[in-house]
Amino acid sequence: MEYSALSELLRVTANLKIVSLAGGLPAPESFPLKIIKDLNDLVLKKYGGTALQYGPTDGAKILREEIAVWLRDRNIKVFTNNIGITSGSQGALDTIGKIFIDEGDMIAVESPTYIGAVDAFAPYGPTFAEIETDDNGIIPESLEKILKTKKIKFVYLIPTFQNPTGRTISKERRKQVAEIIKKHDVFLVEDDPYNSLRYRGIPLDPIQTLAPENTIYLCTFSKVLAPGLRIGFYAAPVEIAKLMVAAKQSVDLHTNSYGQYLAAEYLKTGHLKKHLPNILKIYRLRQMAMFKSLTKYFPSLFKWTKPEGGMFIWVTGPKNFDALKLYWKAVEDNVAFVPGTYFFAHQKEGKNTFRLNFTNVNEKQIEIAIKKLSEIIKKT
Ligand SMILES: Cc1ncc(COP(=O)(O)O)c(C=O)c1O
Repeated sequence: MEYSALSELLRVTANLKIVSLAGGLPAPESFPLKIIKDLNDLVLKKYGGTALQYGPTDGAKILREEIAVWLRDRNIKVFTNNIGITSGSQGALDTIGKIFIDEGDMIAVESPTYIGAVDAFAPYGPTFAEIETDDNGIIPESLEKILKTKKIKFVYLIPTFQNPTGRTISKERRKQVAEIIKKHDVFLVEDDPYNSLRYRGIPLDPIQTLAPENTIYLCTFSKVLAPGLRIGFYAAPVEIAKLMVAAKQSVDLHTNSYGQYLAAEYLKTGHLKKHLPNILKIYRLRQMAMFKSLTKYFPSLFKWTKPEGGMFIWVTGPKNFDALKLYWKAVEDNVAFVPGTYFFAHQKEGKNTFRLNFTNVNEKQIEIAIKKLSEIIKKT
């Protein structure tokens, strides 16, 4: 295992003077502190010691029941025995790697993809096939070609407001992807942490709804409650869910009980539905501020994605633009972002791209940071 170069870059951004568009952190102002305080009292009163005791590996039953109800809003029809609770969705990614990946297995991923997934799978020794993408997400023909010509263990996708690009796989392509994975009898890991963070437009059903027997669906409370609680979950066919439980048991016995009961009551009492508009309001304004500043300051040869939600915008410069060079100059000027090359499974690509986060900085900071970046770009 190697300490990743990306971690080194992100370490630099811990300097308090830096305006960081680098991480993927929710805004602390979005955390429902008052609700959590009330739920604390409720959980202690209602569940007593059970909320602080060891619990079942697949998670607290009440939370799994509530998640099954919540997922109906996305047209996902699953039951408690399909659902398991993990330490963030990151925990689920590791468990999936542990169960399914043997040394040398090939995994198909988007190009670019969430590097935290690549890092979670990497210790199990896979290789990666990169699926081509455009503004509508993955290109189904590219997936089909990979599945026809290579032996793929599973496909890993973030279809909605993808990290790092913010892109969403279109409705038409979701249908095609579902057909392709069913035809090739391969399974899909659908990672969906940003689903609730929609600022405009019409929600799309997850691919899981079109291929439930072939999909392990992952989601998390990190973006709608608080990431520090580390509560994520999967919904999978029962046979796979059983394997997930067996693999998780030896790692951490179960995810923290207290947080699970808090999350369960956050859903059961209707607080998520009431609080979500507050989160969306903060992020919608920040995203608009970033779009506005990019349009105002950035040179015309630069293009960026225009997601309807999520936490990221992906910028592509002209072919000869070097985002890593910009990174080091920007850090001297107290601005940080993530050079795009780190999000490619084969890190020789995307040198002219970078990822911007807009959720953990306010509108004023966004304007200052984007202006500074554009000034450095124009000078070099
Ligand atoms: C695509 C994706 N998957 C998984 C995660 C992990 O989230 P968590 O472990 O907090 O649920 C993240 C975090 O940013 C992410 O962007």
